Order: sequence, then C-alpha cells, then structure tokens
Amino acid sequence: MGVNVFTMSGTVAIGSDHAGFLLKEALEDELVSGGYTVVDFGTDSEESCDYPDFGLAVAEAVSTGEAWRGVLVCGTGAGMAMVANKVPGVRAAACNEPYTAEYCRLHNDANVLTMGARIVDPQAAKRILHAFLDAEYEGEASRHERRLGKIRDVERKYMKEA
Ligand code: RB5
Repeated sequence: MGVNVFTMSGTVAIGSDHAGFLLKEALEDELVSGGYTVVDFGTDSEESCDYPDFGLAVAEAVSTGEAWRGVLVCGTGAGMAMVANKVPGVRAAACNEPYTAEYCRLHNDANVLTMGARIVDPQAAKRILHAFLDAEYEGEASRHERRLGKIRDVERKYMKEA
C-alpha cells in the first residue's frame, strides 16, 4: 500500500457516523467557507450506521494522498481515532479542545483530526478545527521526528500487505 507518496494540499476528507452527522455538516460548511476543497465520505443522515466504515474511507484518502488532512466526527471522537490509526501513515488524534488539536500538529504531525459531537458544540468544534489546520509540524531533524520514526517502526513491525 502506498503511504503519503504525495498530498493534495488544501483537500480535506471528512466523514462521520450518525452521531457526528450534524457537526460534520457544520464543519464542512466552515471548511468550504475557508477555501478548502472538501471530499465528503458520508454518512449522509442521522440514521444509525457504523463509524469504522467512514473512518476507514477518510483515513485511506489521507494515507494515499488523495487528501491533505482528514476530519472525522463520531459521538466521542474515540472510535474514529481507533479505526483511522489502523491505516498505515495515518496519525489520528481525538481532540475535544484546541490545545491538543494544536500540539498534535506541532509535535506529532497528526494528519487526521477526530472529534466528539456529544462533547463539543459547533462553535468549539470550529475553534478546534482551525487550531488543527493552522498549526505546522515543528519539523524534521528534531526530537519530534525521532519519536515519529519510532511510531513508524511500530507500524512496520505489524504491517502486513492485505
Ligand atoms: C455511537 O453511538 C457511538 O458509539 C459512536 O459515535 C462513537 O462515539 C464511538 O466511538
């Protein structure tokens, strides 16, 4: 599987389950207003569905480079982070406040943001979204890169071709 060979800067893949649907729609509007290209992987209603289906689709879009960043919304953000982090090259962080959203970019080079629609209201979610998208990874050749290398080592140790 190709992993982050290139990225389409500015393209954001977004997805949710039923619990995150309304917040996902609000975040999509915010992204479009901000000039981002958005690829919406669903879900398309508040009808009950399974978060791993949508988490996988968004994570694969980021892993292959179809999207620059991913945004996933479920009830808590936890389930989406769990599934997204199974996809090689994805570093998903569940962020229900802005500090984590900023620092998971600065220190962890996170490429997928997950949030909990049952935890954050739309205004707070938009602040979290901007904190994530506006922060840049502090860089290669640093202690952070050494640590990310260790995460990649773990991924390689357990990765098997499908
Ligand atoms: C759905 O009820 C809920 O379990 C889901 O949205 C999510 O919070 C799982 O992590």
